[in-house]
Amino acid sequence: MNLLVTAGPTREMLDPVRFFSNRSTGKMGFAVASVAACHGHNVRLIAGPVALATPEGVERIDVISARDMLAAVEKNLDGCDALVMTAAVADWRPCHENAQKLKKGTMSPVIELEPNPDILKTIAPRKGKKIFVGFAAETENLLAEAQRKLVEKKLDLLVANDVSCHDSGFEVETNRVIFFTPGNPPEHLPLMRKSEVAERIVEWLGRRPS
Ligand code: PMT
Repeated sequence: MNLLVTAGPTREMLDPVRFFSNRSTGKMGFAVASVAACHGHNVRLIAGPVALATPEGVERIDVISARDMLAAVEKNLDGCDALVMTAAVADWRPCHENAQKLKKGTMSPVIELEPNPDILKTIAPRKGKKIFVGFAAETENLLAEAQRKLVEKKLDLLVANDVSCHDSGFEVETNRVIFFTPGNPPEHLPLMRKSEVAERIVEWLGRRPS
């Protein structure tokens, strides 16, 4: 299969030295890319700003902001069989990106934000027979939120992780996830290494109904 994987956070710049972002390290997405490449798939990895080495056999495209990531996904979507969106895309960005570093004395204490595009929703009309896998990072109402995102984002698989646990989600080596697929009960997986979660996702892609 030709797989497109996104990983890491996005950065939404306020000025040349300050930005809004989140705690994603890219570990989950890089694990998916690495495992898929080991299984012989062609993998293109769109990575936000992370400090990880490119997995062997993977073609990497670096991006900074949510809009950069959307452009990279749109450019690489044709010809891919499956898209796995592990990236923690910033939902908001500052309305104004200042060309110069803002000065403490003159800076407003209120920063106006505007919404970023939702990548999955934007590309949904181009889905066709492609498999779309999303992730959901939640701190509350995990099951309801995951089910809502599965439907709203027109996904074939949604991998929900409870990011309120210290051993699961952002930054750590392990993850406790639940697989949501349309018309099926949620499948709870035990705590495992992110590489093992990646194995399960790649296995699922291999036996997905066509
Ligand atoms: O990088 P790590 O430190 O290893 O951490 C892994 C992780 C916790 C970041 C990862 O497992 C994870 O949960 N990623 C998704 C985080 C997230 O942003 O979830 P969400 O509920 O906000 O978004 C739902 C889905 O929509 C995701 O597939 C996301 O990529 C996508 N999305 C979100 C916002 C947006 N503007 N466009 C999108 O396409």
